[in-house]
Amino acid sequence: MKLKVGVVGCGGVAQRWHLPALSKISESWPSKQGIEFVACCDLIQEKADAVAKQYGVRPYTDPGRMLAEEELDLVMVLTREQDRARAAITALKAGVNVFCEKAISDSIQKAEEMVRVAAEMNCALGVNFNYRFSPPYMKLKEMISSGKLGEPCFISFLSHGDCYHHIIDLNRYFMGEVKKVYARYLIEKDRAFILGERWLYTASRFKMVTFEFENGFAGDILGSDYMSYSHPLVSCTYAGTKGRATIPDIVGKVIYMPNDGEVTVWRPSFLEKRDFSITFENSIRAFIEAILRKEKPPVTGLDGLRALQIEEAILLSQEKGIPVKPY
Ligand SMILES: NC(=O)c1ccc[n+]([C@@H]2O[C@H](COP(=O)([O-])OP(=O)(O)OC[C@H]3O[C@@H](n4cnc5c(N)ncnc54)[C@H](O)[C@@H]3O)[C@@H](O)[C@H]2O)c1
Repeated sequence: MKLKVGVVGCGGVAQRWHLPALSKISESWPSKQGIEFVACCDLIQEKADAVAKQYGVRPYTDPGRMLAEEELDLVMVLTREQDRARAAITALKAGVNVFCEKAISDSIQKAEEMVRVAAEMNCALGVNFNYRFSPPYMKLKEMISSGKLGEPCFISFLSHGDCYHHIIDLNRYFMGEVKKVYARYLIEKDRAFILGERWLYTASRFKMVTFEFENGFAGDILGSDYMSYSHPLVSCTYAGTKGRATIPDIVGKVIYMPNDGEVTVWRPSFLEKRDFSITFENSIRAFIEAILRKEKPPVTGLDGLRALQIEEAILLSQEKGIPVKPY
């Protein structure tokens, strides 16, 4: 079976990452299986036309019309957060599976509705938390699951402000549900990019978030928007009772430090080495494979909602100066 795919939002992230990843994925399946990219939609006609020409698909400027005229199995919603829920809910109500960019939406209420409609319509709703699919983070998950690092102690991230959505998700992904967060930011308001009423992207001198997880262990994020893009934007250390693992960059190696042995370095295969595009390819492929097998997506709408609730709690903690329970 071939899933027919339509894309809503033909901007930067679609053109740079998702569409090349879709091409690679569709080429990797035998001819009658996998996916077929058939239609694209952007409010701006020129953008839709440019993508349509490059990929040989039909262009639209209205998601509703695209859904009415195409028999789609999957819609990828690659608009910005504030434009996500409406397009996603239109597709879900038409009985079409949805894969959307992070953050799932710009408000908890809209995200809750997306999750509710997906459940009502029995459609898959996935969120692109693609850092989970970066080879070193996949390796870390395997090391934790195999017991190699022992029982958890803490997880700690240094992160550029632009990566915070992902790092909030990674904290929960590796350590489980969040009991409380405590946050302190030094925000420079003149450099902030405000979405709606809230600060979704805050340009900050520093952002500090500490996490207390339901299992009693700890996590943190410390970062700044002054961290230069010329150097790694995220580094991570996971400590367990039997050893530590450090990931110096989003893609690349894992340094393994067992408590009772020598340091060893795990490196991804040559092709995956320093290429961020692999995170999109792995994330989209995992979602599509789940749909084809009629299984739950690897990153669900609920995961997207939880990340947003944690983000909201972080903002509240920053405002009030107290620890906040996210859900
Ligand atoms: N996962 C990652 O690593 C990663 C990286 C970069 C960006 N992103 C996310 O990707 C999202 C999009 O970012 P971008 O830089 O591509 O934005 P963008 O503004 O370049 O593109 C968004 C496009 O959506 C179109 N659009 C808006 N509403 C629409 C609608 N109802 N129907 C059809 N088209 C519509 C706009 O016209 C625009 O062309 C953001 O939410 C961002 O957080 C994720």
